[in-house]
Amino acid sequence: MEANSGKRDQWGSRFGFIMAAAGSAIGLGNIWRFPYITGKYGGGAFVLVYLAFVLVIGASVLLAELAIGRRAKLDAAGAYRKLGGGAWPLVGYLGIFCGSVILSYYAVITGWTLAYMFKSFGGLMEEAAAGRAAESFSTFIANPYLTVICLCAVMAGVVLVVYRGISGGIEKSCKVLMPMLFIILLLLIVRSLTLPGASAGLRFYLMPDLSKLSAEGVLAAFGQGFYSLSLGMGITVTYGSYLSSKEYMPTMTRTIVLLDTMAAFMAGLVIFPAVFAFGIDAGSGPGLTFVTLPAVFAQMPMGAFFSFAFFALLFIAAFTSAIALFEVSVTYAVDELRWTRAKSAIVMGLAITLLGVPSALSGGGHIPEICGKGFLDAVDFITNNAIMPIGGIFTSIFVGWIWTKDALDEVTNRGEFKFKLYRAWLWVCRLVAPVCITAVFITGLKW
Ligand code: PHE
Repeated sequence: MEANSGKRDQWGSRFGFIMAAAGSAIGLGNIWRFPYITGKYGGGAFVLVYLAFVLVIGASVLLAELAIGRRAKLDAAGAYRKLGGGAWPLVGYLGIFCGSVILSYYAVITGWTLAYMFKSFGGLMEEAAAGRAAESFSTFIANPYLTVICLCAVMAGVVLVVYRGISGGIEKSCKVLMPMLFIILLLLIVRSLTLPGASAGLRFYLMPDLSKLSAEGVLAAFGQGFYSLSLGMGITVTYGSYLSSKEYMPTMTRTIVLLDTMAAFMAGLVIFPAVFAFGIDAGSGPGLTFVTLPAVFAQMPMGAFFSFAFFALLFIAAFTSAIALFEVSVTYAVDELRWTRAKSAIVMGLAITLLGVPSALSGGGHIPEICGKGFLDAVDFITNNAIMPIGGIFTSIFVGWIWTKDALDEVTNRGEFKFKLYRAWLWVCRLVAPVCITAVFITGLKW
């Protein structure tokens, strides 16, 4: 049977949708990047700027994307074609393309977290205790077989979930995985905060130090907020297209933004107290996650267990974001190419896995660098800094200037509800969001 010949699938419950949308938003960006840049740009002060950005601009763009998706009930490209016509479908195509490219390397890093879950019990603690965590990480990412096998395992998992559909696959798995993620976060927070000397980390993380908050920090907060909510990529348009017309979207938007922010904030409560308690330098990026933290866990009683829990947390966060990225291209294949869901999942899955192989191999220098950056870093840079903001700018312009009347109609469920913040939302979409995201875009282009 053609998967697209029957009734369009729908989220089975409000809770299920919120878990799936939170799963898309909460990802690697929340767990390692948010805490790290918060520390770098002035702790509490940075958190305030970040909060203002996600609550005003992030939430507005998220609501705009949901409304577009739900009204059109189509994939990202089809949605812009149906509602806007002209060149607007390009915004959707850009998202679908960019989402697939992001997934190709995101699945590689997800694979690393999977491997590290098992390495926690397989010698990682001993190596880290002997001061060889960095060496162990570079040996691991340089191993072409291991990284490619991990990539294939992650992609196979993602294909399996998405193949089972919106309610039967994505919703079902996120309803289990997301509560698990918050439970693990809580467990790790308790462990971290009860370590002797934890308070120094808390102070570093949360004491507002306005002198550290520069213009660069403000833009970093904007960029992080945008990335963290997975905007500008067709994901929320796609997820919204499976949402029942009875749901009131502004409240859902608020819940999704709050959950995403809470997860990021909680991750900082895990990382900084632990890192400071053992007097280890809080490095950045993958280094912090795969090198510094194993060294921290190695010094704790039951370190292997906490290390396993931490990498399981990262894995869940990354895996549910990977599912969302993948659904964008699968919905596209089902709606536009009229393939069955099974065929779409398998063909797209194979294509994206192949596309991920150069990223998986780049850790060992098996792939030539692109203008001084490793393949994975280069692809990450181009998609996040160049393409994602363009998607965000055009989404807000579309809702603010072009599709405005119907947007209000959609957000209020055709007049059934009152949307008190309508005027504010409209002007954020018209001016504030495009201007702020353009600023992020321009400053982000430094290679
Ligand atoms: N929001 C995810 C995170 O915080 C990253 C992401 C971006 C996922 C774009 C999908 C699309 O890590």
